[in-house]
Amino acid sequence: MPAVSFANDVLPILSRFRGQMMWRFDMNSYEQVKANADLIWKRISDPGNPMPPPPFPPLPRHQIETFQNWIRDGCQP
Ligand code: HEM
Repeated sequence: MPAVSFANDVLPILSRFRGQMMWRFDMNSYEQVKANADLIWKRISDPGNPMPPPPFPPLPRHQIETFQNWIRDGCQP
């Protein structure tokens, strides 16, 4: 199975929220998402302090797992 990649797997999850997070980091930027990967993981997987915030629904389980697997595979571009 190929490693999880930013371009194929992670970017499609994050890109629709890009505009609203631009003040902090560019979620279309591989380098910036990689640099913030642990923080992003913490927030998308924390129902008590979630990102995206309400009224957005939390990311579905499989997308959270994709992001976790991307970190596991070493944040491939
Ligand atoms: C999947 C989508 C999103 C991800 C991965 C994400 C990620 C994050 C992360 C990692 C932080 C913490 C930044 C820090 O501590 O320096 C944060 C904060 C924040 N985000 Fe997002 N975000 C997403 C969507 C959104 C959307 C859609 C909005 C607005 C409509 C938003 C508004 C904010 C605000 C206001 C903060 C600062 C307050 C706080 O930390 O709770 N984010 N986000």
